[in-house]
Amino acid sequence: MVIVLFLVFATLQVFRPDFTNPPVVESKTLESELNVPEEIASILERSCRDCHTNRTVYPWYANIQPVGWYLMNHIREGRRELNFSEWGSFSNQKKRRKLREICEQVESREMPLPSYLLIHREAVLSDEDIKLLCQWTETEIEKIPEE
Ligand code: HEC
Repeated sequence: MVIVLFLVFATLQVFRPDFTNPPVVESKTLESELNVPEEIASILERSCRDCHTNRTVYPWYANIQPVGWYLMNHIREGRRELNFSEWGSFSNQKKRRKLREICEQVESREMPLPSYLLIHREAVLSDEDIKLLCQWTETEIEKIPEE
C-alpha cells in the first residue's frame, strides 16, 4: 500500500506546471501609468504581486505536486482578473472598475486570498493599509477620463 502511494506521488511529480513568468513590458505596467506612492507600492508588492503581476515569486514547495498546480491555478485566475503588469492594455472604463474593485476586495477581506495569508503572514493587511489603498484608488479613479 505504501509503495502504491509512493508511486502515485512520484508519478505526479512528472507533471510539473510551467512556472515561467510571462514577460513584463515596463511601459504597460500599473506603476508606469498611475502615480503609486512608496507606501502603496510596498503594499501591492507585499500582498498582491504573486497573483496579480507577471513577477510571481514561486516558493520552494511549488515544486511539489499537487501543491504547484493549486498555486498555479490561483495565479492564472488572479492574472486573468487583474494583471498589474498588463494594466496598459485595459480601457479607461476597465481601469476605473478595477481600481474600485481593489478597494472593495480588500475592504471585504476577500483579497489577498485567505489561503495565501495562512503562509504569507507578511501579506496580511492592517486597517491602515486598507484605508490607504482605498484613498489611493479614489484619487487615481478621479484622474482617469471617462470615455
Ligand atoms: C494567492 C493569490 C492572490 C493574491 C495574493 C491576491 N489575489 Fe486578488 N485574486 C486572486 C484570484 C484567484 C482572483 C479571481 C477569483 C476571485 O475573485 O476570487 C482574484 C481576483 C481579484 C480581483 C478581481 C475581483 C473581481 O471580482 O473582479 C481584484 C480586484 C483583486 N483580486 C485584488 C487583489 C489585491 C488588491 C490584492 C492584494 C492586496 C490581491 N488581489 C491579492 C488571487 C490573489
